[in-house]
Amino acid sequence: MGTALVTGATAGLGLEFAWQLATARHDLVLVARDVDRLDQVATQIRAAAGVHVEVLAADLSVPDDVDRVAARLAVTGDEPDLELRPVGLLVNNAGFATAQRFVGGDVDAELRAIDVMVRAVVQLTHAAVGQMTARGRGAVLNVASVAALTTGGTYAAAKAYVRSFTEGLTVDLQGTGVTATVLCPGFVRTEFHDRAGLDMTSVPDIGWLDATYVVAQALADVRRGVVISTPSVRYKAGSALLRLLPRFAVRAIGHYR
Ligand SMILES: NC(=O)c1ccc[n+]([C@@H]2O[C@H](COP(=O)([O-])OP(=O)(O)OC[C@H]3O[C@@H](n4cnc5c(N)ncnc54)[C@H](OP(=O)(O)O)[C@@H]3O)[C@@H](O)[C@H]2O)c1
Repeated sequence: MGTALVTGATAGLGLEFAWQLATARHDLVLVARDVDRLDQVATQIRAAAGVHVEVLAADLSVPDDVDRVAARLAVTGDEPDLELRPVGLLVNNAGFATAQRFVGGDVDAELRAIDVMVRAVVQLTHAAVGQMTARGRGAVLNVASVAALTTGGTYAAAKAYVRSFTEGLTVDLQGTGVTATVLCPGFVRTEFHDRAGLDMTSVPDIGWLDATYVVAQALADVRRGVVISTPSVRYKAGSALLRLLPRFAVRAIGHYR
């Protein structure tokens, strides 16, 4: 079934992507920073699913680390000295909330967010589509957010970039046999909010999505060549509303105070 590379594979949506892809008989390349967690996940998936799992520890805010992941993605399978299979599905999933006001906030945290959620996504996508288009097949799944339609600081701006970038990429890829999909989930129960110290107690149960459901929907959309994947009717409706609202209203709901 081919090899899938998943960034941010130690937790949340990325961990769920790894499990669902392994269950669908994909070999895996798992990328994240926490080596112990990566090894643990790899061991569990190998034992349960019997697929081949590579571990590639990388901090995607560090240029040398991104270069190493890009080099793995550029493998075509024809290199005589390498026993690596080419990656047929890239899931650019790693990300985190900036969760601070820009004015008076830590500018390094803002720049790290752009490095991980924009710069690395662009570089890794470029490396992947190079070998995929040469082979005439493959897919890229970029994880944005419904926040891409809001004005919630650098996080929302990064996700808006990913959404627009991926839509444009699909035009570039027409006729190549390679597809691109952007996933735009609403709130999903993962480690995301705790890691950022966000208090989510005001979000009602109906606002939350389950990672298993979101990932299943996203992978089904990738298989069907869907460009924008927005799991659940309620978030599809919410996204449509965000596009219709006057901008002053969008600005009012989407900002850290
Ligand atoms: N949860 C939500 O409500 C929600 C909604 C919309 C979109 N999203 C998006 O979904 C994606 C996954 O988020 P999640 O909810 O699954 O969050 P999560 O549970 O916190 O997992 C984040 C993953 O990203 C990895 N990561 C973070 N910084 C990294 C870095 N510098 N280099 C490499 N890996 C890094 C983490 O692993 P290590 O710590 O081991 O590096 C972890 O595996 C993100 O892009 C997020 O923006 C989430």
